[in-house]
Amino acid sequence: MGLYDWFEHRLGLGKPAFEAAAHPVPASSASWWYVFGSAATVLFMLQIVTGILLALVYTPSASEAWNSLQFLNDKVALGWFLRALHGWGSDFMVAIVLIHMVQVFMFGAYKFPRELTWIIGVFLLILTLGMAFTGQVLRFDQDAYWGLGIGASIMSRVPIIGAPMVHLLLGAPIIGSATLSRFFTLHVFVIPGILLAGVALHVLMVLRLGINEWPMPGRIVRKSTYEAEYHKLNEKEGIAFVPDGAWKDAIFAAAIVLAVMACAFFFGPFGPTGQPDPTIIQTAPKPDAPFLWLFAVLSLLPPSLETPIILIAPVIIIAAMLLLPLVAGEGEKHWARRPVAVLMVSVIAVSLGIFTRLGITTPWSPVMNAWSSDAIPTQYLHERTPLERQGALVFQNKQCRDCHEVGGQGGKRGPDLDSVATRLTEDQMVRQVLQGGGNMPAYGNALNPSETTALVAFLKTLRGNDLRPAQDASRALAGSNPPESTATGEERPSGQSHLSKEAPRKP
Ligand code: HEC
Repeated sequence: MGLYDWFEHRLGLGKPAFEAAAHPVPASSASWWYVFGSAATVLFMLQIVTGILLALVYTPSASEAWNSLQFLNDKVALGWFLRALHGWGSDFMVAIVLIHMVQVFMFGAYKFPRELTWIIGVFLLILTLGMAFTGQVLRFDQDAYWGLGIGASIMSRVPIIGAPMVHLLLGAPIIGSATLSRFFTLHVFVIPGILLAGVALHVLMVLRLGINEWPMPGRIVRKSTYEAEYHKLNEKEGIAFVPDGAWKDAIFAAAIVLAVMACAFFFGPFGPTGQPDPTIIQTAPKPDAPFLWLFAVLSLLPPSLETPIILIAPVIIIAAMLLLPLVAGEGEKHWARRPVAVLMVSVIAVSLGIFTRLGITTPWSPVMNAWSSDAIPTQYLHERTPLERQGALVFQNKQCRDCHEVGGQGGKRGPDLDSVATRLTEDQMVRQVLQGGGNMPAYGNALNPSETTALVAFLKTLRGNDLRPAQDASRALAGSNPPESTATGEERPSGQSHLSKEAPRKP
């Protein structure tokens, strides 16, 4: 053992490690109920290992990320399995951390002197959710794109600092390559770094303060007496953590890792779903499992309640979790004597379960594919020129009706377009279509000039009951134009060139 002694003389880590392993814990704590914390730690280690392996192939660039995942899925030996392990490991980790938290809460383990251990645990939960969210963004597929869009829109509703925060997170006004670099940095360096340090501190405190004894009804925690009682208990009936207490942890952690592997093997990796494209809204994006409940809540809330609930609820929930051990640091630990706590956990668990279930089935609102395949009503095609009919086809193919009603049918996200030509001039329509704005995606990259020309020619025919078309106010004042030819390209040679010249400028 010369080598061991050589290192031990210099590092001195062996003795405290052996002492920590063999330190006495209450016999009652060597229970199957006490295995979740160590299982969460093991899952975290699994995530680190699989994450490092994924990072060897994954390309954090907006144009290549999606391809590199396809490459992993199809070309790299067992690449799909690695992705599946990391994805399922993430879902399992969130679930086990939550179960660990519920167990700690029900057993009163957050009470004196373990308040700070609980508070750090709350931050570990938030960081774990942060890992799940940033990881989902790295997939950079349709789900990631829309999930991030929803996340950004939630954040943007924070008063005053909302908009700058969104800009900081996205790195640009739109979701693009700067966004992906930022989320890669968060997911690979920043959050795991803090998480590692937090877990170390958390475990250190568990060692220092001792594992919570099995609660007994009527055994009250008092700051003045608890620690002396705990030490007496340990002296009387304590057992060595390794091996008497730890073997259950080891078996459970192994079972969980096997379960992750089984899910990965049978259900495969998550996505990537379609390539991200803001103009394809005929999509049913779904967040990953930890956020399904939030997705359902958001889609079911009446719009007027959305902002207050989105902004206030998380603050209240996190504050309540952080303050819990400070206001309830003493008293009964046993669940049978804490009916309110039991009721609270049951209500939260049942609602999370129901909302998660709903999140699987809730359609992306508004229902986007309802009108996509419907043809333009025939009265809108009567006596139209070939160009205008071509435009109707573009209108149908680009699924404008997912958001716009025409002839009483279509989505209600945007205004109905039955008489759009009486509200907007041709130039304004071109601008709206190419640049989007006001919750409409920009179609500048999704339409070529001739499609745009046709589309706008069709839009110009939408004048309700043949009302006068909209006019450019300055030209209307000049008073020389008959209604039919104002404000349009009719004077121009069947407009192609002016579109590309004028369109990309904002008024
Ligand atoms: C994701 C939903 C969505 C899609 C898809 C969509 N739009 Fe829009 N559109 C909107 C919204 C919302 C507005 C209102 C913008 C505003 O208030 O500034 C709008 C406004 C417009 C306007 C101006 C209407 C007015 O009366 O001011 C036109 C014209 C228009 N869209 C045409 C189109 C065309 C053509 C397409 C298909 C290429 C399309 N839209 C696809 C949501 C959408």
